[in-house]
Amino acid sequence: MCVGKVIHGGALWQPGIRCVRDYDSVIAADVNDAWYPPSPRVLEAIAEWAPCANHSPDTACRRLVGALSDKFRVDAEAIRIGAGSSDLLHHIVMSSVRQGDEVLTLEPTYAEYAHAAALAGGRVRTVVLDPGAGFAADVEQIVEAVRRGPRLCVICNPNNPTGSVIPRAGLLRIVHAAAPETLVLLDEAYIDFRPEDSLFADVPDYPNLAVVRTFSKVYAMAGLRVGFAAIGEGFLTAFDEHGRPPWPVNLLGLRAAEAALEDDDFIRERVVECNQLKDQLIRDLLAPVIQSSTSYFLIDLAGSKLGAVDLLERLKSQGVFLREFSGFSDLWPDRFARVTIQSASNNDRIYLLINSLLA
Ligand SMILES: Cc1ncc(COP(=O)(O)O)c(C=O)c1O
Repeated sequence: MCVGKVIHGGALWQPGIRCVRDYDSVIAADVNDAWYPPSPRVLEAIAEWAPCANHSPDTACRRLVGALSDKFRVDAEAIRIGAGSSDLLHHIVMSSVRQGDEVLTLEPTYAEYAHAAALAGGRVRTVVLDPGAGFAADVEQIVEAVRRGPRLCVICNPNNPTGSVIPRAGLLRIVHAAAPETLVLLDEAYIDFRPEDSLFADVPDYPNLAVVRTFSKVYAMAGLRVGFAAIGEGFLTAFDEHGRPPWPVNLLGLRAAEAALEDDDFIRERVVECNQLKDQLIRDLLAPVIQSSTSYFLIDLAGSKLGAVDLLERLKSQGVFLREFSGFSDLWPDRFARVTIQSASNNDRIYLLINSLLA
């Protein structure tokens, strides 16, 4: 479990990246950003509204909230907007966890939950996923842990970095096992790859359920920082009273998100394309991988000529960045590395390099 400073991928944040074409100088397969630009409708909306950037946006983000409420059939009262899902995840943790409270999560998983929980004074406990089972979660084990009454249970579904999914029925078992004082928080950052397993529209039925989603992943808008959450009524007041600055999202981000919601075809097509690219990359790689439902997957380097640390260093020297597993868990040191799907030509560069280094 990682509770200290969280390391995120950052090949593209180097000071040397100064203009748009500098992005081509590295392959940033170390972050789960989309490799493609946003929908043309989003680009049009940004261009149209850019001259209005001198105006403040609506503090309550009413147009976006209304569009989300219509799309997901969730009462607008339950929806909150944030500067990316990170903003909402942190705020939900900070507003629900008190000093000494137990916070339950999975391991390995996205490290921000443990980080925020530690900042709030929580004690983090993890249910460890088994690599031998492809990191599939054992729902009964989670149900048992939830019955012990943690203040918060955070689950990333699909999970980062494993790409494994808890199907809807399993999630509902977990929600039903939770006492009213336990908040079940689902991070659905990658749910567009498995929309049928979302619990976003179920939030009105469960006062102790909160679901956070983002425009940063399949919508390809990570640079715009727009996330949204549905929060059960048992935890909504705490969220609002914990203190939020006004204008969580900038004007262009809001208009872009509204436009993005009107282009469902774009999302469907990108998911199909990403899955095809992923399947091809997995076929091309000589190393074994953990099967994933998302646009990223883990390479398993157990028994390989190089461990993960050495492999990543050598790839980096060639401008190819993968993600260190140590940012998700201290378990299995040096065994796994996470790859995020890129364009077909960049995926070719990735597999050719990895195969040559592992040969
Ligand atoms: C599981 C998960 N949740 C949330 C985030 C944060 O995304 P954002 O704040 O851009 O919405 C990430 C980013 O990589 C993530 O992997």
